[in-house]
Amino acid sequence: MVRETPLSPSDFIYPVFVTGGRGERQPIPSMPGQSRLSVDQLPREASELRSLDIPAILLFGLPETKDAVGSGAWQTDGIVQQAVQALKDAQPELVVITDVCLCEYTDHGHCGVLNDDGSVANDESVELLAQTALSQAAAGADVIAPSDMMDGRVGAIRRSLDHGGFEDRTLLAYSAKFASGFYGPFRDAADSAPQFGDRRGYQMDPANGREAMRAIARDLAEGADMVMVKPALAYLDLVREARQRFDAPLAAYNVSGEYAMLKAAAANGWIDEERVVLETLTGIRRAGADLILTYHAKEAARWLARRSG
Ligand code: PBG
Repeated sequence: MVRETPLSPSDFIYPVFVTGGRGERQPIPSMPGQSRLSVDQLPREASELRSLDIPAILLFGLPETKDAVGSGAWQTDGIVQQAVQALKDAQPELVVITDVCLCEYTDHGHCGVLNDDGSVANDESVELLAQTALSQAAAGADVIAPSDMMDGRVGAIRRSLDHGGFEDRTLLAYSAKFASGFYGPFRDAADSAPQFGDRRGYQMDPANGREAMRAIARDLAEGADMVMVKPALAYLDLVREARQRFDAPLAAYNVSGEYAMLKAAAANGWIDEERVVLETLTGIRRAGADLILTYHAKEAARWLARRSG
């Protein structure tokens, strides 16, 4: 009766890795309980999410081939574009969010295209990201979520969507995205680790909280409808601060490394998984996030339903 912070499956967004082939459910070793799914498996996933009252899915694609510019990202029949269509056909009410980035599609694993000296070419990358967003919207994506961290990409994507007739699509910007060690398991899952160097040129320094607030303000000014802090747990102070400073819907990404830590401890019998996962998700909500992107979504939704049922 006096609980201050509600936690409900309607707060969750469930991230999924989509791969080629048919009948594929390939377990991801560093993320126990998560699998790479082929497109034909997605309708089943969608109805499961709907039955658990989880409103949204976030898609990452593993293309069949990679190249220097990441052209698999914007193909009409690309892996994510196929996935979006399959999901919208099967379960139109499920909100489909697409991650916009080139790192899963480039052979060098960086989030944009490269200059001759190996540095990332910001403006050329932004054009390709806008093209990617447009192709995802054309496939039927409801929400476009740029995670690449190039400068100016939110405005460029907004313009390209509007010119393409997709004024109605929503932009969820990965605004305060830090250069984090907690993405390790994701890079296994998405096969997207940079082949040289790191992402510190475009992702943020974990020490910089004020810069994070400037990045959120800038993305909102460029047309973001919703903003994100990522990772969640080592950055809850920034979730709280963003909640206090900005009115827009605020998401926090409970990333792969955060998931893997709890799974590993639970598998060893060192923590009570249900208790610790719900405590963690409640903490992210208490800090001020409206939405939580989390690999725990389905299990947490089942636990919550059992508790209220
Ligand atoms: C793509 C992207 C990453 C994540 C989401 N989108 C990896 C990265 O930036 O290296 C990480 C998500 C997670 O760890 O769960 N750029």
